[in-house]
Amino acid sequence: MHFRGHTTMSSPLRVGLAGVGTVGASVVTLLERQRAALASRTGRSIEVTAISARERGRERGVEIEGFAWFDDPVALAASPDIDLFVELIGGDEGPARQAVETALGARKPVVTANKALLAKHGMALAALAEKQHVALAFEASVAGGIPIVKTLREGLAGNEIRRVYGILNGTCNYILSRMELEKLSFEQCLSEAQRLGYAEADPTFDIGGFDAAHKLAILSSLAFGTAVDAGAIHVEGIQSISLADLESADELGYRIKLLGVAERSEHGIEQRVHPTMVLKSSAIAQVMGVTNAVTIDADAVEELTLVGPGAGGGATASAVVADIADIARGIRSPPFGLPVASLDHSARLPMQRHEGGYYVRLSVHDRPGALAAIATRMAERLISLESIVQRSKPGKRSPVSAGTTVPVVLITYATTETLIREALAAVVADGYIAERPQVIRIERD
Ligand code: HSE
Repeated sequence: MHFRGHTTMSSPLRVGLAGVGTVGASVVTLLERQRAALASRTGRSIEVTAISARERGRERGVEIEGFAWFDDPVALAASPDIDLFVELIGGDEGPARQAVETALGARKPVVTANKALLAKHGMALAALAEKQHVALAFEASVAGGIPIVKTLREGLAGNEIRRVYGILNGTCNYILSRMELEKLSFEQCLSEAQRLGYAEADPTFDIGGFDAAHKLAILSSLAFGTAVDAGAIHVEGIQSISLADLESADELGYRIKLLGVAERSEHGIEQRVHPTMVLKSSAIAQVMGVTNAVTIDADAVEELTLVGPGAGGGATASAVVADIADIARGIRSPPFGLPVASLDHSARLPMQRHEGGYYVRLSVHDRPGALAAIATRMAERLISLESIVQRSKPGKRSPVSAGTTVPVVLITYATTETLIREALAAVVADGYIAERPQVIRIERD
């Protein structure tokens, strides 16, 4: 690391920016707005000199006439007229990957917000950056404006981390919050999130949990010093969450959040993304709307929670500009905290071995013995019930038995994924259930 004196200005840092959508336009605006402050903080003036985007003529709310234009982002990445390449194209292959590889290959530092690319090719790209002795920075790839990459990599370097978990997808949190508070439909809330620019180009990445999984893969590597292993993540999205679940959760003192959780145990690293019941009194339950939150359990600091905007142009640009400023200052850390060869390939912990409490919502045929049979199937596997609630109002007419069904909600004490799945399979086989059971895991503080 070099320390640059703040009085002697070095040559300007010439930035090439590929992808000028919501975030890219905000990066241009922010660099302009903070021009003087950034120059005095880093000792260098930072100038966007060239850009590349899909459509040249599109209205972006920023002036692009003064920048050199490249139709091809790979040509921009290779240009000798830039010192740093910013990739905001998105996607785990195609032009984004080619352009990042080209820039690193040409010994240019890279700043990217591309979590999908890092989740898939992070190890290869970090190895290339290391070989070329240039920075690969990706603060904006996880939790938008929250500086979580720097927190894990630098701020908590003196800790052993046990668990990192959080709300990593603003779109899902926005949808769940609005459904709960305003009793709106899933579709209405999703269109609103798209209109506000929170959602990915393909919103199934958000609602299916994949965007959160990409981010969790990065956090997990930084937290545990392990190689990025997105394939090891158990992923479930929020599509199956109904207003009935949100109401039951509320009555039982919980709220439903899409959480990404990475946890180290003596058996290996568990990584999972799924809708989760959290106690309404917990810090994470208070996080509503597009806001993200990440909690870290570690030995020295104990518990730390960072809360902030997880998506949107300004917040994401804040993280991109921080990375650009680091590079202007001459800071280069190993992208994932350790040299790639030292990253651990620890054992994955399969989801079947997950231990925790469960919320189960069943649509039960209203017949004598039904509840007793359900409780027996649980007891046979030593699953202890914290509560079992049968809603007094009858449910809908069951198409299977032509009788009525009643909603029954169970909360279990800690058990394993294998046992709860076995118990529910037995309950279904007994013939008391009209619909597939809804299962939501409970996360304790
Ligand atoms: N689609 C993402 C979200 C944007 O909703 O959180 C930030 O990565």
